Amino acid sequence: MCGIVGYIGSAGKTVNVLVEGLRRLEYRGYDSSGIAILENGHAKVLKSEGKLDNLLKKLSLTSFNGSLGIGHTRWATHGIASERNAHPHVSGGTAVVHNGIIENYQELKDELKKKGYVFNSDTDTEVISHLIEDFLKKGSSFEESVRGTFKLIEGSYAVAIVSEREPDKIIGVRRFSPLILALGENENFIASDIPAVLPYSRKIIFLEDGDVAILERDRFRITDLNGHEVKREIFSINWDPVAVEKGGYKHFMLKEIHEQPHAVLDTIRGRVSEEKGDVYFEDLENVVNGIKRIVAIGCGTSYHSCLVGRYIIENISKVPVELDFASEIRYREPIIDEGTLAIAVSQSGETADTSEALLEMKKRGARTLAITNVPKSKISRESDAVIYTYAGPEIGVASTKAFTTQLIVFYLLSIYLGRYTGRVSDQEGRRFIRDAFRMPQLLEMALKLDQEIKELAMEFYHYRNFLYLGRGINYPIALEGALKLKEVSYIHAEGYAAGEMKHGPIALVDESMPVVIVAPRDGIVYKKILSNLQEIRARRGKVILITSGEEAHELNGQIDRLIKIPDCAYMLSPIIAVVPLQLFAYYIAVYKGTDVDQPRNLAKVVTVE
Ligand code: M6R
Repeated sequence: MCGIVGYIGSAGKTVNVLVEGLRRLEYRGYDSSGIAILENGHAKVLKSEGKLDNLLKKLSLTSFNGSLGIGHTRWATHGIASERNAHPHVSGGTAVVHNGIIENYQELKDELKKKGYVFNSDTDTEVISHLIEDFLKKGSSFEESVRGTFKLIEGSYAVAIVSEREPDKIIGVRRFSPLILALGENENFIASDIPAVLPYSRKIIFLEDGDVAILERDRFRITDLNGHEVKREIFSINWDPVAVEKGGYKHFMLKEIHEQPHAVLDTIRGRVSEEKGDVYFEDLENVVNGIKRIVAIGCGTSYHSCLVGRYIIENISKVPVELDFASEIRYREPIIDEGTLAIAVSQSGETADTSEALLEMKKRGARTLAITNVPKSKISRESDAVIYTYAGPEIGVASTKAFTTQLIVFYLLSIYLGRYTGRVSDQEGRRFIRDAFRMPQLLEMALKLDQEIKELAMEFYHYRNFLYLGRGINYPIALEGALKLKEVSYIHAEGYAAGEMKHGPIALVDESMPVVIVAPRDGIVYKKILSNLQEIRARRGKVILITSGEEAHELNGQIDRLIKIPDCAYMLSPIIAVVPLQLFAYYIAVYKGTDVDQPRNLAKVVTVE
């Protein structure tokens, strides 16, 4: 969850690369930050509690002139957010930044204390710097000391290390937490995520578990923990660095909400033939051949997309779908066999809960498919096949465009499965694909609600509780709307299946409880939801109705606010219905003055279980 960046190259560039890299990684963690730069063979360290700006203030009072350094932005696990617990942690002249959790740190700490090492923080990370120092003292080289240390460490880690003993190297090690190298001319980079280094290099190496990377200014090597060299492919990444910036929007979240028409189009394009009614996915045939059922898993917003995915797949391709939170499925005895296709959905592709659950299902015999947004991410590498969402980098912690692209992938996948099993005819295939191609334009129309939703948010931002209701395929959208509001505005919000309201939550309804009803027009579900509306009105609840269709205005007078979204094929309606809810959460957060892109306590990539 923390962000790591390291640079070795020219002295004039080091501070800038580290600071800019950390700025781009702040979404990974942001309760404290720090850098260590080797200057004339000495490690100079600067740390600060709170946001990166606090570190910058300190930096402006100091001068650094080293040609290599490492930086870190933290999301606390062990030890409160404070300067003392901020990384880098230093022992002797060795400085370490770390993302992950060291599971056996307490016993290592006890051993080190017995040897006389003094701990200056409450973190698990500090054992790393002391252990390396211990090896160095015994005469091992920097490389040997790092390898020796990580043979003793259990848990997850991505680390970058510099040492006064060999001040011309950065060493990186990874296990379970992401770490990449980026290669330049007479300079090299290490980082926990691509955006940190994108302005400087497109040549990226994704380190694998157990890799130790030794970076020098003009060369690099990768070994395993025993010192044997390993070869890793160099990938060329074509993400646009400008796309990683805010591009004129006040926040990444708003920018990413508005990028949804493009993101959805990019995810469809090149994968379908409208003429034949077919969908194409690389390497999928072997994975879906003979499957009897699907088990879909994810966390947070990605779990909500699995919920929608179930409706779409069962409806279009008639394959049974079961689902669970990735964090739960391992704690029961799921029935998994060779006839099971396990689908792991993850924007980042690095979520520890999802990765672990996927590996467990693989162990039990399932074939595995990842739906993810990040090329070569952990989950994509661990799966038998991958379908990428082409949303582009998502920086705001609240997931928006990744979600809608996941939904369109589920829709395309269901057509693919239906065609493969013969349950979807040519004609139906053509119609489904035509409907998909209408989505970018319909999303543009939905985004025109921006101003209207902004005004709505102004009216409602002082309420302290919200209830979100939906039914059928839009029940998950009620959950997603409530999650978005909670995440960015810190207002309590609950999402419920509308039919469940009378079984409990109705007790909460009074004039202080706005109820957001998500009900795009269809046959049966819409009418049933209207009864909920009357029940809420009878208890003086305030109703905001998100609906579609020409007749919507008939409801004026019966509700407090009506938000009319464009009509579309019902299976695709969640993609449109979620837009006003994303905007509503965004503007409420803006009015409340919260940190929209980096809400408190949250991180973009959750690499701890
Ligand atoms: O990267 P992932 O999709 O695996 O992340 C899963 C959740 O942590 C994520 O969706 C989280 O709920 C978001 N902050 C939602 O906005």
